[in-house]
Amino acid sequence: DIWLTIVWVVYLLVFLVTLAKRKEPHIYVANWFYLAFIVTIAMLHLGNNLAIPESAFSSKSYAMFAGVQDALIQWWYGHNAVGFFLTAGFLGMMYYFVPKRAERPVYSYRLSIIHFWSLIFIYIWAGPHHLHFTALPDWAQTLGMTFSIMLWMPSWGGMINGLMTLSGAWDKLRTDPVIRMLVVSVAFYGMSTFEGPVMSIKAVNSLSHYTDWTIGHVHSGALGWVGFVSFGAVYCLVPWLWKRERLYSLALVSWHFWIATIGIVLYITAMWVSGILQGLMWRAYDAQGFLEYSFVETVEAMHPFYVIRALGGVLFLTGALIMVYNCWMTIRGRERAGEASQHPAIASGLNAAPAAQPAE
Ligand code: HEM
Ligand code: HEM
Repeated sequence: DIWLTIVWVVYLLVFLVTLAKRKEPHIYVANWFYLAFIVTIAMLHLGNNLAIPESAFSSKSYAMFAGVQDALIQWWYGHNAVGFFLTAGFLGMMYYFVPKRAERPVYSYRLSIIHFWSLIFIYIWAGPHHLHFTALPDWAQTLGMTFSIMLWMPSWGGMINGLMTLSGAWDKLRTDPVIRMLVVSVAFYGMSTFEGPVMSIKAVNSLSHYTDWTIGHVHSGALGWVGFVSFGAVYCLVPWLWKRERLYSLALVSWHFWIATIGIVLYITAMWVSGILQGLMWRAYDAQGFLEYSFVETVEAMHPFYVIRALGGVLFLTGALIMVYNCWMTIRGRERAGEASQHPAIASGLNAAPAAQPAE
């Protein structure tokens, strides 16, 4: 834990000194998200690891919190890891790569600032939605639920800003598979941040909790949002970093996109059906008030959906392997025959003019 803290603090210092030495007076919104990600993860790590040493001379210590307080602290940590690692950090990437690749300014700079601050303030309170129907006091559960529902708006603020950045450049969705990947990632972000608030409602959570529905939700965020925005970033970065004119093959990017999208859709739809089935089977009673199904029967019922999930995972992984091959060939300086006449704007980000900011 101490080593992790040192590494992270060094990371923060590198980031802060880079910011301090900047030549631009303005700090672009992507850097705000990035800073929030680094600072909050540090705060979470410290808060979640608070411990009281046995004595001043011993390395043994006891966790500061116990029982339900500990559970609450852990989910404060857990949910904000989603909010500041898997969301804020990747929103930072979105705010850099989407305008850059689309060669358009961010749709609304004002919206980005509003949704930044509201996201930061609201996320921190939503953790208790992971502890519905537990020993946590009811008011705290309801508070978590309320903040989770409020979280929908700032989340969608980010999604709208990302999607609308393409206004005037929608044709690029057709011509540039990298933009398509970035945009679909933002759409998955919108979907998982709509699903999350719905799942935080106690009546819904009483069905979804402990089931595969949660797993489906996790992976529409993890594979759809986090995965796709990262793939889009890699496809932009590889030619820039190795100073190549363009990627080895955009057709392969398109293959990656479709194979991975089908994979995600199979994964999450299988988990929705399996999760709801599981939840309904667990709560089914017969006329005498006995449980209708034994646990093992619910596991058996999920078997086909696990096969579909595995297939989805294999497709997602296949797509990623195609990306590795494409990047490898790009780094080697190869260009796939027959793809020379690409749209000039998508050939390489190197020549792209920096996106101008609207004067809001
Ligand atoms: C508005 C935003 C969001 C809200 C309100 C929200 C809400 C929820 C809720 C209610 C659960 C189920 C808790 C349970 O029954 O145990 C959950 C689970 C989860 N969510 Fe979200 N979610 C949001 C966005 C996201 C995003 C964007 C990601 C990923 C990138 C994500 C990742 C997860 C993970 C990993 C879990 C499972 C935690 C566990 O291991 O139990 N969430 N979320
Ligand atoms: C090919 C891609 C992937 C496959 C096949 C896959 C598969 C799985 C499986 C089988 C589980 C266990 C679910 C269960 O308990 O039934 C799981 C859990 C999880 N995965 Fe993935 N995963 C993939 C990629 C990712 C990525 C890229 C992330 C994060 C960015 C991620 C985040 C998680 C999390 C947070 C959990 C825990 C969820 C919970 O227990 O509530 N996964 N994954």
